[in-house]
Amino acid sequence: MKYQPRSVIADNNNQPNAVNDGPLFTWHKGALTISTDRRLLDIDFIHHFLRHSHWAQGIDRATLEHAIRHSLCFGLYRKKRQIGFARVVTDHATFAWLSDVFITAEYRGNGLGQWLMRSCLEHPLMSGLHRIMLYASQAPWLYAKAGYEPINQPDRVWTITQPAIDQPCGALHIPQSVH
Ligand SMILES: CC(C)(COP(=O)(O)OP(=O)(O)OC[C@H]1O[C@@H](n2cnc3c(N)ncnc32)[C@H](O)[C@@H]1OP(=O)(O)O)[C@@H](O)C(=O)NCCC(=O)NCCS
Repeated sequence: MKYQPRSVIADNNNQPNAVNDGPLFTWHKGALTISTDRRLLDIDFIHHFLRHSHWAQGIDRATLEHAIRHSLCFGLYRKKRQIGFARVVTDHATFAWLSDVFITAEYRGNGLGQWLMRSCLEHPLMSGLHRIMLYASQAPWLYAKAGYEPINQPDRVWTITQPAIDQPCGALHIPQSVH
């Protein structure tokens, strides 16, 4: 199916200013399901994991909810219980950034991380993008198996890192205009 992005300003939860992902996608394997439907996400579960993770340590719930509302999200479920997650930040046309990938500890080592990575790449949006990137300080094998290549070139990838993760997003100062 050709991916058709739509810029509608309400998401599945009727939250304002959210990106509409277009059609929802699901993948099935026995009792396991991967879905892009944000309404199914267990925010408590995701928040509990991420605020204890090394990359999003201490993230507050409002910031996480804001990020989820503006991302293409992949929830992995066993029956109705969420057991994994991946979040894709994207302009829906050219570029995506893969983030927040995890499988809950008791289900690791069963190929679910790989299945989640494959499903992300199979999504019609993702398969049409020019570039997909991620930052990984752990589990390089997961991404290598999915086809990602390390850049390993000095002076090519640049970043500004600001300690804003512990600030509720509402507390960030966004200037009205820049002169
Ligand atoms: C990383 C993570 C998502 C992987 O999920 P998973 O379901 O355990 O991974 P899989 O079972 O699909 O394993 C993927 C492959 O890597 C292999 N693998 C697993 N652990 C490995 C290790 N320590 N070293 C090398 N290969 C490893 C597996 O054998 C499998 O390969 P195979 O199918 O050829 O056997 C999961 O471990 C996790 O949530 N970790 C904590 C969060 C995290 O670190 N996220 C990544 C942030 S960058």
